[in-house]
Amino acid sequence: MEGRYLVNFNSKELPQHETEILIVGGGIAGLYTAWKAVEEGMRVTVLSKGTIEDSNSGRAQGGIAAALGKTDSPELHYKDTLLAGAGLCDINAVKILVNEGPSRVQELISMGANFDRYGDELAMTKEGAHSKRRILHAHGDATGAEIMRTLASQSEAQEALQILEQHFMIDFLVEDNICSGVLAYDENSGQFRVFRGKAVVLASGGAGQLYQYTTNPEVATGDGVAAAYRAGAEVMDMEFVQFHPTTLVLPEAPRFLISEAVRGEGALLRNSNGERFMTRYHGMAELAPRDIVSRAILSEMANTDQDYVYLDLTTLPRERIQKRFPTITATCSRFGLDITSELIPVAPAAHYMMGGIKTNYHGETSIAGLFACGESACQGVHGANRLASNSLLDGLVYGRRIVDAVKKYLKCNSIGSNIHFVCESMFDPAGNFTALKKELQQCMGDNVGPLRTIQRLSHALAFLNKNDWLIKHRCRTPQEMELRNMLEVGRLIAQAAMMRTESRGGHFRLDFPEAMSQWKKHIIIRR
Ligand code: SIN
Repeated sequence: MEGRYLVNFNSKELPQHETEILIVGGGIAGLYTAWKAVEEGMRVTVLSKGTIEDSNSGRAQGGIAAALGKTDSPELHYKDTLLAGAGLCDINAVKILVNEGPSRVQELISMGANFDRYGDELAMTKEGAHSKRRILHAHGDATGAEIMRTLASQSEAQEALQILEQHFMIDFLVEDNICSGVLAYDENSGQFRVFRGKAVVLASGGAGQLYQYTTNPEVATGDGVAAAYRAGAEVMDMEFVQFHPTTLVLPEAPRFLISEAVRGEGALLRNSNGERFMTRYHGMAELAPRDIVSRAILSEMANTDQDYVYLDLTTLPRERIQKRFPTITATCSRFGLDITSELIPVAPAAHYMMGGIKTNYHGETSIAGLFACGESACQGVHGANRLASNSLLDGLVYGRRIVDAVKKYLKCNSIGSNIHFVCESMFDPAGNFTALKKELQQCMGDNVGPLRTIQRLSHALAFLNKNDWLIKHRCRTPQEMELRNMLEVGRLIAQAAMMRTESRGGHFRLDFPEAMSQWKKHIIIRR
């Protein structure tokens, strides 16, 4: 066991908590899976690293894509998803997503999710690479918050569901390739605790915090992927990181997301000379696939020697902007910008991890009893570049499928486990972890960002290898454990990016700028 776990522990000495289904992560994928499992009569505990409000899901603005429009169809949604995915989507995973998606969204509506409407009809917007208006939204640009509100209010009423906030999952308990629970740190009591489940579902979200510029919240540090990898799970497609093209660039402001739906409603991108430039890069102009728009913006930034380009909404009526994008209007206004009359300075920032723990179409990982869904999972549905607003749908569709698989799994493995673990690691050095975290974020942004080369990737890997000593480090605080996870995930991304000597979707190599047919395959890494 030595070196595999992040902290020293003797599981017998720690408080024990038993449940049937243990879910790690309180975003849309985790909460929806929990709710469906409870509906099937299971007892569920959800561990959330922060509070339920802290998730990436809660911040989703643009919306949730589903073929519900009269002139739309799952086939069209399927085609758009494959095109954006740049030849690497798993076609069966996409078929499942687009065919099962509409029922999942209808289910959210029947649970009380209040999507925007024009009269009786659901209002739908367009985003990059969609051939139809198929994106549902709520309160204009607060779709994730509305879905999370719906799921959280359903959860409150369920006795069989316990949600524990401020519980940081540290490691999976795995013996003979069977997962039987997790070791977690309860920040409320300052105690380590063992949580045992007959099945464990990982829905812990992404890793945007690996980069200095990101739309992701502080909690998005890739902990689930790192822990599953440590436990021996296979990870896939880690080189594909999505950079959202338009995040706010203002002194003092965080890299706040300016939804792609803004462009869907007619906003234009202009360089600092005032020129509209996207028409020079792609036939779909501002609504080209996200990776293409991000690279075009970077190229304009370089050509004009500026740190941003502009998003121009000023041709849209003021009332329409305020009603359709109230969160964006209010946030920009807090930083002194009136988006109805002024241009918004924007630049790309890390947004979404297409890769993750490899699963099949039922969320099963390569470790028995461990399932994964949402951003921490990868069944190949997003390929090399996720189609906008497919991620919330992914969480619902594959969360639902996990519940079916767990039911079957429990029929054959209903006993659970009493395995105990004693782990000791070797070093306990002191270090400046805050500075190291910043260095890592800078290094990832500079070298493993949207534009990569062998030199940049070598530089990143050298940095990551230099800090490899942390692997055997006995962590003492959640911040150290997080940093350890970030280094682990950073290395997975950099290694896969180094291996893939071509450009495809979110992975662009300046030294190999073309897509190569021999690279139409996935990179799978296992410890
Ligand atoms: C956005 O509103 O632009 C984000 C939607 C997404 O990431 O799918």
